[in-house]
Amino acid sequence: VLGAAAGGGFPQWNCRCGNCELARRGGARARTQSSVAVGVDGGAWLLLNASPDLRAQLAATPALWPRDGLRDSPVAAVVPTNGDVDHVGGLLSLREDQPFTLAATPRVLAAIDANPIFSVLAPGVVERRPLELDRPFRVGPIEIVPFAVPGKVPLYLEGQGTEAEDVVGLEVRTGRRRFHYVPGCAAVTPQLAARLRGSPLVLFDGTLWRDDEMIAAGTGSKTGRRMGHISMSGPDGAMAALAELGIGRKVFVHVNNTNPAILDDSPERRELEAAGWEVAFDGMEPAPWR
Ligand code: MLT
Ligand code: MN
Ligand code: ZN
Repeated sequence: VLGAAAGGGFPQWNCRCGNCELARRGGARARTQSSVAVGVDGGAWLLLNASPDLRAQLAATPALWPRDGLRDSPVAAVVPTNGDVDHVGGLLSLREDQPFTLAATPRVLAAIDANPIFSVLAPGVVERRPLELDRPFRVGPIEIVPFAVPGKVPLYLEGQGTEAEDVVGLEVRTGRRRFHYVPGCAAVTPQLAARLRGSPLVLFDGTLWRDDEMIAAGTGSKTGRRMGHISMSGPDGAMAALAELGIGRKVFVHVNNTNPAILDDSPERRELEAAGWEVAFDGMEPAPWR
């Protein structure tokens, strides 16, 4: 896990909520923005999302450092799960004429294509590869299968309507190992539940503890539902929805700074752990996943 926090990170630059103030004073573990790296030691790596904190995340992760020659990177591909700033902003840190494949649904690629600043990833250097839902995309020994999850278009595209390909989850497989990565999800549909059933490891949207959390904290006017995020708690929440699916290990990622469960010693964290969940932190290695 390169970054375990939601957009804004923890602490968020302009936020004085209790959690952010605590993190600033060293009283809570800080977290960078949403990204996961998956790879094989000595082989190719994939970045699942490229957060605006990517430069620091790469610097903190020796497996992702250059290995050979004067210019090099083990990062063979980047796979954004949506077009949100916290998931594509880091692409700008991957300029400097380094070849890799940028693989995403046509909807997400269209959002990137429409913004000329991303042309710093020059056409002849960075291949933009459209991904089809439910069709595997392979990089070395690793296979990624994108699947639709309920969600919404990025804030900067609101008004243009939402389609199935705006937000995806990823199944990651290598040999007999696999896990599921779903950092943004508005609701657990029966189809999604069926897909996650029996998974050895699920990294799942942990943005909010409860739907009106940002309103209650005074930090925002939107509910989780309005932002396309299911809550952790409650009868419609992620913990309830994933409780009976026989999942081996359940880890929340994309955790917002207002979420009380981001604090190691909160009652909400204890409740979540009692339900068999963990909260990711930067540098967490939930492998080996089988
Ligand atoms: C989200 O996950 O809802 C977005 O990343 C919010 C944002 O763009 O800041
Ligand atoms: Mn986000
Ligand atoms: Zn805050």
